[in-house]
Amino acid sequence: MGNTQPRRWQVAAPLTEPARDTSRVELAASHLSHGSPAGRCSWFHEVMETTPATADAVDVWPPAYRGKALVKVLAWLVTERLAGQDAWVTWHMDKQQGPDSIGRMLEGLGWTEFSRRRELRMTHLRGRPPATAELPQAAEFSARIGATDLVFEADYGVFSPRSVDDGTALLAEVALAEKPVQTVADIGVGYGPLAIALVRGGVATDAVATDIDSVALWLARRNAVRNGVTMTVTCDPDPLAVPPTALTVCNVPTHIDAAQSRALMSGLITRSRSGRLLIVVHRSLEGRYAAHLKNAGLDIERHPGPAHTVLAVTGGE
Ligand SMILES: C[S@@+](CC[C@H](N)C(=O)[O-])C[C@H]1O[C@@H](n2cnc3c(N)ncnc32)[C@H](O)[C@@H]1O
Repeated sequence: MGNTQPRRWQVAAPLTEPARDTSRVELAASHLSHGSPAGRCSWFHEVMETTPATADAVDVWPPAYRGKALVKVLAWLVTERLAGQDAWVTWHMDKQQGPDSIGRMLEGLGWTEFSRRRELRMTHLRGRPPATAELPQAAEFSARIGATDLVFEADYGVFSPRSVDDGTALLAEVALAEKPVQTVADIGVGYGPLAIALVRGGVATDAVATDIDSVALWLARRNAVRNGVTMTVTCDPDPLAVPPTALTVCNVPTHIDAAQSRALMSGLITRSRSGRLLIVVHRSLEGRYAAHLKNAGLDIERHPGPAHTVLAVTGGE
């Protein structure tokens, strides 16, 4: 982000070039053509933990798939971090998102002076934030991974919200038997269960992690702090965005397109040249992901579970 005070903040804005006096908060790297946001943009997970310069106008486009719970977090972000005194804030919502009920929810949180403008499917709700806001509590659950009891916040459309995913549990079980290393890299960390379980289980001293979802990285950081784990997070689709490590784990995202999948696997294979790589996939997809590793000349160890398989490869040229 530049040093000058923005006149306007935009949160989760559609992809257009921001005006010169506008700064942006990005929620995900998936729609950016490159990993890191451009000059006047900041990641959500970073802005949530800092005190940026405020502006007198803020626009928010709450992403539909993340649900109303995230709207309350964005309302907190705007009130406590982005909006200056006397700022006007406009919420831009599609008809499907239920703009009237979101408006009522915001009024319940102390927002005032709302005016509505409708334009085709979009409703633009302009109003004033309250003087202060309380950060809403994310949904959370407890889980035992290996011999460690952990608590995780998992919410807002981030993968596996109510319990540790079966693939994650299998990968953790296999990885907890690995030789201890200084740093584990968790590629596609989500809300952080693998990296946190491996550090707390003594396989690594600390963790580095990537994801393309800045909201997931915010939860991962909060969960790391809560569970006493040192973790550095990076919002980037490239597994090489974090330094080489003696151990890399990945619960492979399989709902991405073929080009993104090839790029992810290629980055993971490069990481395996400097250490162990353990990935987990559903058994029905094992052949596809094993082929990436075999085609790179790697010898694979299989650790099959009831529904998933962990594929492990050992580093070296
Ligand atoms: C199957 S989930 C696993 C999440 C977490 N590791 C767990 O086990 O619960 C895959 C994660 O990868 C993320 N993701 C998708 N493409 C990615 C990429 N190219 N680089 C890093 N993360 C990615 C998704 O946002 C999602 O959080």
